[in-house]
Amino acid sequence: MSGSFQPGLENVIASETEISYLDVEKEQIVLRGYDLIELAKTVTYLDVVSLMLDGSLPTPEWRNALELSLKTEYGLPEDALSILRLLPQQTHLMDALRTGISAIAGYDQDIEDRSREANYRKSIRLLAKVPQIVAASYHASMRQPLVEPRQDLSYSANFLYMITGKVPSEMEERTFDQSLIVYSEHEMPNSTFAARVIASTQADLYGALTGAVASLKGTLHGGANEAVMKMLLEAGDEDRMEPLILGKLSRKERIMGFGHRVYMKKPDPRAMLMKEALALLAAAKNEEKLYRMCVIGEEVMNREKGLYPNLDYYAAPVYYLLGIPIDLFTPVFLAARTVGVCAHVMEQHANNRLFRPRVLYKGPRDLHPNSASV
Ligand code: ACO
Repeated sequence: MSGSFQPGLENVIASETEISYLDVEKEQIVLRGYDLIELAKTVTYLDVVSLMLDGSLPTPEWRNALELSLKTEYGLPEDALSILRLLPQQTHLMDALRTGISAIAGYDQDIEDRSREANYRKSIRLLAKVPQIVAASYHASMRQPLVEPRQDLSYSANFLYMITGKVPSEMEERTFDQSLIVYSEHEMPNSTFAARVIASTQADLYGALTGAVASLKGTLHGGANEAVMKMLLEAGDEDRMEPLILGKLSRKERIMGFGHRVYMKKPDPRAMLMKEALALLAAAKNEEKLYRMCVIGEEVMNREKGLYPNLDYYAAPVYYLLGIPIDLFTPVFLAARTVGVCAHVMEQHANNRLFRPRVLYKGPRDLHPNSASV
């Protein structure tokens, strides 16, 4: 059998794609030809949604039409909300999100249609409903009344509003929108790969997305943003940051929010953008201490391990200052990434070949039942 074994599929090309590419040499994340960071600085999340799903940035008219179709799809079936309310209170909110997405699948009349048009319609429905599942799963777990979506707010403002119950300021809305952009798509992370593997069997978009949720929950992936915030709170002060990190490193623990399979020894451009956003937000909210703690952590990790922060490191304190509960950091990441996953599933369905790799077998051979010891 030909083919070499790469643990963790490191550097293996798994797909051809026209969606995105990490150009590590140029320190650029390419999204359908555009620089993700430039997009985050100049357009809105809905523009990026259009870029991902339609293939180009929208005209103002098209953008309005997209916003309208999303708003038309706002709202969750009452039975799906009841399922969220019935979950045990300690349910991890990524598990609740996975359940919520499964619960609404049966309401989608396009579920078994893999055509581009049907996948597009399903993507719009998911983009409209996933933020509400995220917010509702939190309020349900807290046994609080749910916050209904508001048509008069922008997509991002409404998402934040459904979580916090407060209409965000212009600065909060813009910062949150920017975070959704930088989380929207990132080439072939574990969760997107999981979704493409699932979609390659001709499974449906909802199934592929729930697989991505399960993957993203892990702390080596999206779950890191929650772990970062817990570490910052554990440190609590600037002078506690360095000893905390050094202690963890001496115990051979991973420091969440640092390192990346693709960037590893280069900065993650998304983290640098969120660092800028954190500086502004922290100044506006008189929380500069949190920013300074993060900078100390970054310096210590760079000095000790030569590692740079990834997006989760700076997105976590940004979400904290936006009033998002820590348990929702990873679900919010998934909501932002839903558009990327949808684009990848559409691409997989449009040009499919079943994923079916082989193994390097290391087990025994030539055993026989009657020779087994008892
Ligand atoms: N803390 C301490 N050491 C680290 C870290 C870290 N966060 N990340 C990598 N290293 C070290 C490893 O110990 C290893 O050192 P060694 O060669 O001396 O043993 C070396 O760097 C290479 O690490 P690998 O685990 O082989 O690299 P891999 O590509 O498999 O890991 C990963 C990438 C999983 C992201 C890793 O950097 C990590 O665990 N980071 C923390 C979790 C995290 O932040 N995840 C979010 C990823 S980004 C995202 O999902 C948005």
